[in-house]
Amino acid sequence: MKEMWNSRYAEEEYAYGTAPNQFFQETLDKYNLEGNILLPAEGEGRNAVYAAKKGFNAFAFDISVEGKKKALKLAKKEEVIINYEVGDLFDLQLTNEKIDVAALIFAHFPPNIITKYHNKIAELIKPNGYLILEGFSKNHLELQKENPNAGGPKNIDFLFSVDAIKKEFPNFDIILLEEKEVELNEGKFHTAKSKVIRFIGKKTNTPNQ
Ligand SMILES: C[S@@+](CC[C@H](N)C(=O)[O-])C[C@H]1O[C@@H](n2cnc3c(N)ncnc32)[C@H](O)[C@@H]1O
Repeated sequence: MKEMWNSRYAEEEYAYGTAPNQFFQETLDKYNLEGNILLPAEGEGRNAVYAAKKGFNAFAFDISVEGKKKALKLAKKEEVIINYEVGDLFDLQLTNEKIDVAALIFAHFPPNIITKYHNKIAELIKPNGYLILEGFSKNHLELQKENPNAGGPKNIDFLFSVDAIKKEFPNFDIILLEEKEVELNEGKFHTAKSKVIRFIGKKTNTPNQ
């Protein structure tokens, strides 16, 4: 898995482009969010760099060292600073930070760790903080059959559903939770008609959650 991502990111071109994910960008802008932002599975840094340009303290992590190199290169070009660590979420320094916004953008963790990772990410978010998620739906597999170039994991256990997201993040008030067919246009690997799950949640203001 890690090797696949490292070899993808070792290319000169940015696999998903250098522009931020559109849903992520629109959500940050619409809700005037600010502060510390956490970007799990951030790849080549397009969303972290956008957030840093908006004034966020950006904290990113991924398993790919090549992703980190590309992200830091993009940050340098755009003259911003981002914090980016490589490794397992539970070993990272960034877990010392309390987070105003976390954004899971096509962050498809393996089924054996997904709930543990989601719980930890939810725990790091401050009360009244936001979670933004866009990822491929389980129903995206039908579109992959029609168009083998449609991006995303091929294993249904890595994919999302509205019900699963609702269960994964019980301590968030739902601002938006939907399945949507969209035309992705993000670099070379997200270019086709796709079915995604979109979630915006606001963490409830209850202590110890
Ligand atoms: C489709 S890419 C999305 C990258 C980025 N979020 C974006 O939207 O441009 C998925 C990313 O998940 C990362 N990833 C996969 N498993 C991971 C894990 N266990 N921990 C952290 N990152 C992981 C990969 O290295 C890859 O960068």
